[in-house]
Amino acid sequence: MSVKISVKGQATAPGSLAEVLKGVKLKLVTISGKGGVGKSLVTTSLALGFAMRGYKVGILDGDVYGPTVPKMLGVSNSMLYVDEKSGKIIPVTGPLGIKVVSIEFALPSDDTAVIWRAPLVNQALRDFIAQVDWGSLDVLVVDLPPGTGDAPLTIAQSLQGGLDGSVVVTIPTDISRRIVLKAIDFSRKLNIKVAGVVENMCCFKCPDNGKLYYIFGKDAGRKIAESSGVPFLGGIPIDPDLSQYLDSGRLHEFLASENETAKAILEVVDKLIEMYKDKLQQPIEAEKKPRRISLLKLPGEEEGGNS
Ligand SMILES: Nc1ncnc2c1ncn2[C@@H]1O[C@H](COP(=O)(O)OP(=O)(O)OP(=O)(O)O)[C@@H](O)[C@H]1O
Ligand SMILES: [Mg+2]
Repeated sequence: MSVKISVKGQATAPGSLAEVLKGVKLKLVTISGKGGVGKSLVTTSLALGFAMRGYKVGILDGDVYGPTVPKMLGVSNSMLYVDEKSGKIIPVTGPLGIKVVSIEFALPSDDTAVIWRAPLVNQALRDFIAQVDWGSLDVLVVDLPPGTGDAPLTIAQSLQGGLDGSVVVTIPTDISRRIVLKAIDFSRKLNIKVAGVVENMCCFKCPDNGKLYYIFGKDAGRKIAESSGVPFLGGIPIDPDLSQYLDSGRLHEFLASENETAKAILEVVDKLIEMYKDKLQQPIEAEKKPRRISLLKLPGEEEGGNS
């Protein structure tokens, strides 16, 4: 089965992934063994953090079934366009100039469920990823669907060879610990270097007194990282302020504030910048060209979309 994303009845041509990503210096992916641990929050925070440090950043929301990156970045109502000449998808521009690509932009409404079966998703994802014109970027951050199943595997494999590191997101519970070990194993089996572990919801920041309460116990993320021989990148508290900014698509404003949680997130970004400084220091290609564009259609939306 093959899926083509079409524009005005013409299929856009998937390029080779190596070609699509050739202008990107550093490619990171966030993974988690289970859902709901804050992976998308970490992905968008990393993207914004790199941008705040002056890097050119792209973000690929690879979570076909539950895309949330556009909402977190406040660009939910955007649409994807295709360059008529090259057939490539043009990313949406988000806060701080971040280039954003998400399947959500191609859906008719926020509430539309994607009910493709696995083989269709796999093909659609591969085609989708291979059709984006990222131009030249310092950093591309990829948000995978939760778990270590078919969909994350497809994206990770599609980008395989091109990914420079995985950021493993966990929460500090014992159940989560075992699942994270699976995620680390997943990354290693795909030959993606584990950049490190981020412990989200490491503690609760009380809005009344600003104190941190370690409700699940302390240092779980650090211990998981140490026992697996990978770096610990830092902890992010459960912070009601953060939650509010996220829900209103203003994460960039939160990160620019004096909030301690924002500082904790930026410390993770700074560790990654230090870790990958050689890659980030390579010269970047110049940006190019004006273009003619058309609206992107999903498979099946136009005749000839599915075959
Ligand atoms: N540290 C935090 N403080 C406050 N709220 C948080 C924090 N981390 C995550 N949340 C909230 O928890 C919810 C889940 O976070 P997120 O969507 O990032 O998880 P996920 O791992 O990507 O989930 P999924 O598996 O569904 O993709 C979001 O509504 C987010 O606002
Ligand atoms: Mg998510």
